[in-house]
Amino acid sequence: MKQVPARTRIVVGNWKMNPVAGGDAKKIVATLKKKLQRASVPVVVVPPAIHLEVVRSLVKKPFSLGVQDVHQAEKGAFTGSISAAMAYGYGARYAILGHSERRRAGETNDDVGEKVRVTLGQGMTPIICVGETERDHAGRFYSFVETEIREALRGVSRAQVANVIVAYEPVWAISTGDGRGQTATPEHAHEMKLFIQKVLVALYGRTIGLRVPVLYGGSVNPGNAEELMAHGDIDGFLVGGASLKPDEFTTIVRAVEAHK
Ligand code: PGA
Repeated sequence: MKQVPARTRIVVGNWKMNPVAGGDAKKIVATLKKKLQRASVPVVVVPPAIHLEVVRSLVKKPFSLGVQDVHQAEKGAFTGSISAAMAYGYGARYAILGHSERRRAGETNDDVGEKVRVTLGQGMTPIICVGETERDHAGRFYSFVETEIREALRGVSRAQVANVIVAYEPVWAISTGDGRGQTATPEHAHEMKLFIQKVLVALYGRTIGLRVPVLYGGSVNPGNAEELMAHGDIDGFLVGGASLKPDEFTTIVRAVEAHK
């Protein structure tokens, strides 16, 4: 049997619409740099696009910059939107796509697919978010996630998929700041990771399919990161709320490093 290469471990911090001031964005990155400049796994910082420029000069290996969404078009009459080309020009090398907070605002699987193709065409890495809103006993949420993946990857070649990351974020486990986020167990994460890999292998074959990193996201914090890594067998995290708190984020990155 052909040997499957080790998958990359990676941690992504999705700041969402925080912080308000560019100066505070700079402070967060500066603090992270002190704590994590020798981190042995790549760390992607994803501030609001308007802060890309102020943090850009601070971002050096092991850090990279990402953007929270892109528009399908390169430019044009799309009020309020940002293109992959623009974000790239300001240093973003990753794009979070299909986040549940964008899907809730009306984004469809087709939109996500287009954005994935545009992002790859720009030489950036799409971080494709998938995940069910709720779980049903019959297990229909599996086919829901499968459809999200297949449609996001429509037209993506075997060569291109080497530059794709999938993030499993069960919507019911995402912290909303009001305490509604339930906790997914490492078993939830592990089962879905295996399922996502099965879908990727069906699409791209074993060697390529198993190389795509599968992250977990949804209320990841210093208290559950270690267990999720140890028993979830995932490749890292997409962190929301805790990514704004350098101490907490550092502990999460350490948990990923410990399971390289
Ligand atoms: P959370 O967010 O870590 O605050 O739950 C994760 C996400 O929505 O990407």
